[in-house]
Amino acid sequence: MKLVDNKATLSFSNGSPSVEMPVYGGSIGPDVIDIRKLYAQTGMFTYDPGFLSTASCQSAITYIDGDKGELLYRGYPIEQLATQADYLDTCFLLLNGELPNEKERGDFHKLVTNHTMVNEQMQFFLRGFRRDAHPMAVLTGLIGALSAFYHDSTDINNPEHRRIAAIRLIAKMPTLVAMSYKYGVGQPYMYPRNELSYSGNFLRMMFGTPCEDYKVNPVLEKALDRIFILHADHEQNASTSTVRLCGSSGTNPFAAIAAGVACLWGPAHGGANEACLNMLEDIQRQGGVAKVGEFMEKVKDKNSGVKLMGFGHRVYKNYDPRAKLMQETCNEVLAELGLENDPLFKLAKELEKIALEDDYFVQRKLYPNVDFYSGIVQRAIGIPVSLFTGIFALARTVGWIAQLNEMLADPEYKIGRPRQLFTGSARRDVPATFKR
Ligand code: SDX
Repeated sequence: MKLVDNKATLSFSNGSPSVEMPVYGGSIGPDVIDIRKLYAQTGMFTYDPGFLSTASCQSAITYIDGDKGELLYRGYPIEQLATQADYLDTCFLLLNGELPNEKERGDFHKLVTNHTMVNEQMQFFLRGFRRDAHPMAVLTGLIGALSAFYHDSTDINNPEHRRIAAIRLIAKMPTLVAMSYKYGVGQPYMYPRNELSYSGNFLRMMFGTPCEDYKVNPVLEKALDRIFILHADHEQNASTSTVRLCGSSGTNPFAAIAAGVACLWGPAHGGANEACLNMLEDIQRQGGVAKVGEFMEKVKDKNSGVKLMGFGHRVYKNYDPRAKLMQETCNEVLAELGLENDPLFKLAKELEKIALEDDYFVQRKLYPNVDFYSGIVQRAIGIPVSLFTGIFALARTVGWIAQLNEMLADPEYKIGRPRQLFTGSARRDVPATFKR
């Protein structure tokens, strides 16, 4: 970051001395006011719950222009990566800053492939869960447990440990997500196969059985690879900020990523794809397109607490570019599977059409986000609704790792420790019990 020829001056109407603060600029996007000395100079904190106006770090990984609806991974537009690269190329890019050349690409694919198996003991760890546990509960446990199986890559300050932990996490997430699914349906686990692609391997571990050979459908393989690319990273979203804050204490990478999985589970964040599909199924059950108007009235009624899941975004105030690409993938997958008339897809498109013409949504700049169509694609592929966020976590693992490593490599990083505006009781003495 660089000092810009501008300063911020904070003055107070009560005559307190004004404070000057430097302004820094990045390569693109908003400048920042450096408030690090504010408390020392004024005895006051800034107040920004939800961090709507706060940059928690400097980063060179992902950039979002919310007004333009633009998403760049290391400068490359998501639209180009989704059509000209695959997920492992995108992983290499996010981790290293550049796309791999032919040799780097081959080496990286091979490295990840050779780490897809998990310690055989992990299957016994899984046995502790109820069969009907939510896959995200299982995954949060499994990812946290990785630090109990891979002791030789837990020192977050050792670059070699960080490198091998990154490969292990990227390589083993598909295996662990598939295991959490198989455990829930009572089927045997499928071991990864080294001759398959990253997404092809995942499809086989999910839907293959020991009873017959599993043939990977190339359209579904490509669709899944694109879903992984679209979810790989997204600036300082809630789960990425969680991973950074967790990692800032020096804990091991597996624990920090497990914290990200736990945060992503929430319906306002990565859990929105599951919530969105449940919403579509509810409307479908109540009458489908004919009931959309009634549902929209509920969404616009503040007291209903009903939100149009898969719509709106903290940063995008235009169409989420990922939603457009996801809709294309939806068309391809439904056509491949002969589901062009899928009622939920038609319902989603009707909901989108109505919302984009409705003043409530237009005024608030609410557009479809990545979660609006992803559930329909995943459901068509055969992924159960409860596993949608697990797929999101699988794909986002590389983003979390890249952001965590960037933080650890930043000489300015400190343990994260926000302050507060205290509104509770001032000091008072404990009264004797009979006086309470
Ligand atoms: C992800 O941060 C990221 O980058 C996340 C993510 C990533 O890749 O990591 O992009 C992934 O989490 C996508 C978002 C998935 N969540 C959902 O689809 C859940 C539904 N969306 C909302 O919960 C909401 O839009 C958020 C949480 C996504 C954004 O919340 P904000 O920025 O806090 O927006 P807000 O609540 O301040 O909304 C502004 C207004 C409010 O109305 P008013 O008080 O101004 O009258 O818009 C309304 C909100 O009530 N609003 C919605 C709405 N989203 C916002 N009203 C109805 N339906 C919605 N979906």
